[in-house]
Amino acid sequence: MNVLIVHAHHEPQSFSSALKNVAQETLLRQGHQVAVSDLYAMQFDPVSDRHNFSSVQDPAYLKQQQEELHASEIGGFAPDILAEMEKLERADLLLFSFPLWWFAMPAILKGWVDRVFAMGRIYGGGKFYDAGIGHGKRAMVVATIGGPSTMYDGYGINPQLDTLLQPIEHGIFAFNGYAPLPAFVVHGPARMSQEERLAELQRLADQLAQLDQLTPRAVPAVSEFEGFVGSDRWPRFMVEMKRSAGGDGNSMTWANASAALSKELRRQGKLLSFHASAADDPHGTAWMLIREHSRDAVERSLGSLSAQAGLRFSVWEAARS
Ligand SMILES: Cc1cc2nc3c(=O)[nH]c(=O)nc-3n(C[C@H](O)[C@H](O)[C@H](O)COP(=O)(O)O)c2cc1C
Repeated sequence: MNVLIVHAHHEPQSFSSALKNVAQETLLRQGHQVAVSDLYAMQFDPVSDRHNFSSVQDPAYLKQQQEELHASEIGGFAPDILAEMEKLERADLLLFSFPLWWFAMPAILKGWVDRVFAMGRIYGGGKFYDAGIGHGKRAMVVATIGGPSTMYDGYGINPQLDTLLQPIEHGIFAFNGYAPLPAFVVHGPARMSQEERLAELQRLADQLAQLDQLTPRAVPAVSEFEGFVGSDRWPRFMVEMKRSAGGDGNSMTWANASAALSKELRRQGKLLSFHASAADDPHGTAWMLIREHSRDAVERSLGSLSAQAGLRFSVWEAARS
């Protein structure tokens, strides 16, 4: 497989750069072709303007997407952009490697996206989501983060990491058709011992050596939304889940059963929210909001998931708000 690693760190001795090196070496050892765009080392210019183009459609007014469409038609992209587009188009797996800066990717990487993902050649004209250039391909974030995981796990002062990564994993990867693989994240490498850092490098190597075991996040198809830009055709269902009377009745504890069920529904892209009572609650109850095309489908998937777990459900269709 062809891999493109787009790396955005200015220090080759940083932990982020070490992760990039491990990713490159591991994937090469697996027999893959690996291209690396090391943006600082290349002195990649992230400023998106007229110099994206060797062509000009409207010299009086720069409208980037219009110029991109024109450049796509006549082959009018600047050579630095064209080279990156060709790497992107060849890649079956796209890795973005970066340190989290201000809850986002560094500007040099954002600029790479702004310039390289051009309307016409890369996206647009029906090339989005499941018809995007990344359809059938995968993409993954490999990031270092200064703050500890407790700041980003939903109970910390910061938004959840999943939410912060949405502009990349959904806005760039999924929008262009790539299946987003679970992000590989290392929190606080500067506070780690050398042994801990080595263990994290090994964890990345192990994860990349078993890429096919990773389940990408499910992304809905364009056809599920009215005319693509309209509302979701699928309703939402509120589900109350309770442990059946008479105890757990099998080997799965309440906590394990509800965690397994929510994980599976999340993997299928159907779970919008999930709240379970505490692990020691004798009456085990959970509330969830599910995106499904019909009540029958909700009941079918809950039924198959809960068969072993002694759980029962009440399902209501939610009002559209
Ligand atoms: C400009 C800048 C912005 C940063 N923003 C954040 C941030 O939003 N959240 C955070 O946890 N750490 C932030 N950090 C810390 C970096 O994430 C951290 O230094 C880096 O991930 C450590 O990995 P490295 O040694 O590979 O650079 C920021 C650092 C810099 C330089």
